[in-house]
Amino acid sequence: TYKACLFDLDGVLVDTAIYHFQAWKNLGTKFGYALTEEQNELLKGVSRVESLNRILTWANYSATEDQKSTWLIEKNENYLDLISNMNPSEILPGVLDFLNQIKQAGYKIALGSASKNAEIILSKTGLIEWFDLIIDGNKVTKSKPDPEVFLKGASGLGILPTECIVFEDAQAGVEAAKAGNMRAIGIGDVEMLRQADKVIPNFVGIQASELLQF
Ligand code: BG6
Ligand code: MG
Repeated sequence: TYKACLFDLDGVLVDTAIYHFQAWKNLGTKFGYALTEEQNELLKGVSRVESLNRILTWANYSATEDQKSTWLIEKNENYLDLISNMNPSEILPGVLDFLNQIKQAGYKIALGSASKNAEIILSKTGLIEWFDLIIDGNKVTKSKPDPEVFLKGASGLGILPTECIVFEDAQAGVEAAKAGNMRAIGIGDVEMLRQADKVIPNFVGIQASELLQF
């Protein structure tokens, strides 16, 4: 039986995916590169450094380490600016109701996010109070699709990976969950998230007891 739900943050609980996309697009203009939505899909769930590396590869641009560090700081400053006014109204529809249902059912709730800004976002939106454990980009060394972030979630909660259900909007995140031996529920488009055990478009009207079979 399942004992915990591990949630990705960006694009699952809050719609910060649009802010990351905006900030990367803005950065791309510095080296004349126009990032597309299809490419952005491949950046979801991927760490900041790894994202920049991918973009530079697509742009066929070889940057020095100094240039890269500067751009990483600039991207994040821009992103922090974009999220500066976030508030509870930006929690995605249905999320609070779903969290309430699983909490009532006795599930542990943990975060498994690649973002180093996760705590700021959880605080600004008030989501932080729901979490028993937060594993974010400051606590891992390997980017999704490596399962590290979710495995640390399971061990931090003192349960087995097979007792965890992961909620993910990113291909890399679904892969990470499966690599970690967990059940993966995709949030979004079934075409994009083929490896997930099940895909739902969002949390609106979702009955936890049906989805998680308790
Ligand atoms: C993931 C996002 O959750 O966090 C990625 O899907 C993002 O788009 C990554 O690059 C790292 O986030 P941050 O906030 O540390 O730059
Ligand atoms: Mg995500």
